[in-house]
Amino acid sequence: MKRQRIVAGNWKMNLDFNEGRDLAIGIIRSIGSSDVLTILCPPFIHLHYISVLTNGIANIEVGAQNCHSARNGAFTGEVSAAMIKSTGASYVILGHSERREFFDEDDALLAEKVNIALASGLHPIFCCGEKLEVREAGTHEHLVRTQLENGLFHLDSDVFAKIVIAYEPVWAIGTGKTASPAQAQEMHKFIRSLIAERYGQEIADSTAILYGGSCKPDNAAEIFSQPDVDGGLIGGASLKAADFVAIVDSFPQS
Ligand code: 13P
Repeated sequence: MKRQRIVAGNWKMNLDFNEGRDLAIGIIRSIGSSDVLTILCPPFIHLHYISVLTNGIANIEVGAQNCHSARNGAFTGEVSAAMIKSTGASYVILGHSERREFFDEDDALLAEKVNIALASGLHPIFCCGEKLEVREAGTHEHLVRTQLENGLFHLDSDVFAKIVIAYEPVWAIGTGKTASPAQAQEMHKFIRSLIAERYGQEIADSTAILYGGSCKPDNAAEIFSQPDVDGGLIGGASLKAADFVAIVDSFPQS
């Protein structure tokens, strides 16, 4: 079964309107037509403009970095999944470790966000991953299992098929410390086995699982060559068009 290969750029809280426009244009100009799906995930202010820029380009999509769990209402400063969808975006990152850590997002809230995102026509890119102390204690698989069971596995199989998973070990995010290709493969294989347990092998084999955490042009090829790694969720290196496009071009020839 051939899975969708994906490289998503998480710009986090970087780039004003003009900088974001220039980066998006730089990426669009230099990305070739390949079967890799590229997803640009800028801050909300860029979503509509970049969706217009990428409209009609088959292998580039746009995603947000968060949404609120409610459909609409008195939540000053928040943005709903339906609003994101109306900009032309089609993905939303949910459960990023920075949201879990700095905005106290727990698994129960994330399950609600997953539901509203799907109901609004967005594909969640659902993040999971352990902190350093959890890895050192050897309980990282248990933690990731809990995150997936609580945040995602309530879904029925027909909607689960719309999910992209990103494994991002927190100790590798922005630290320059990547998980070794073997560590990434081990966890991705484990995640796929959990999906198989819950939804069956066919759905497990068709779910894209991305790696995130200090992924750069010089290490992407080795990580992407692992059999259960279907691409990357890229932070720092997604802010430079040349680096990001080099990562998109890092898959082994199929
Ligand atoms: P870095 O690539 O900067 O380590 O960030 C990874 C990340 O958090 C992507 O969501």
